Amino acid sequence: MTTPLSLGVLISGGGTNLQAIIDAIERGDLPARIRIVVSNRRDAYGLVRAARHGLSTGVIAHTDFASREEFDRHLVTLLHEHGVELVILAGFMRLLSARFIRAFPHRILNIHPALLPAFPGLHAQRQALERGVRISGATVHLVDEEMDHGPIIMQAAVPVYPDDTEDSLSARILAQEHRIYPAAIKLFAEGRVGVRGNSVLIRDEHHRPQTGFQSPAAV
Ligand code: GRF
Repeated sequence: MTTPLSLGVLISGGGTNLQAIIDAIERGDLPARIRIVVSNRRDAYGLVRAARHGLSTGVIAHTDFASREEFDRHLVTLLHEHGVELVILAGFMRLLSARFIRAFPHRILNIHPALLPAFPGLHAQRQALERGVRISGATVHLVDEEMDHGPIIMQAAVPVYPDDTEDSLSARILAQEHRIYPAAIKLFAEGRVGVRGNSVLIRDEHHRPQTGFQSPAAV
């Protein structure tokens, strides 16, 4: 029995990805423990989700700090005090300083609602609709000092339809986020992730289906 991986989850809002991770742990599908949930916003509903499951929570309002570095220094201390081994950004809407990233080298994950490197930054779903792509999706990646740029761990694709709205596409992508985030964290918990340059290597990645999917499906 491996020791559960200690997670620190950073949120800013609704926390549906946090909920998916909590549910995976409680189902026994993810050998990890959430040591603390930290939000930079006091009103984040994800804090309610965390408290409902008896998890430690903290609020570090960035407005309480003179600088990003000061905010990050306090956040690093809090995470280290809770023995966090892997930092999970789950709807966390702050850019992290180089100092923070150096404190957790190759140990910070983020989920982005697009197939990176396509559509980095904010409103990725809207960018996809405006570009008229027929396939988009979600990406779990390691965080480096550039936004939405680090080595990619896992991706999931969804069809995009001409009558999609930002809401309908976001909902379709979010359902995949809730699937792949716990799965990607599990790879870390099992010690199966290695990084070489900008590529992630997964040990024992044997299952290699060759099927793809097209969109539009039937023309
Ligand atoms: C999700 O679309 C995620 O990709 C982005 O923030 C959105 C909200 O996430 N990073 P959550 O519901 O707060 O987990």
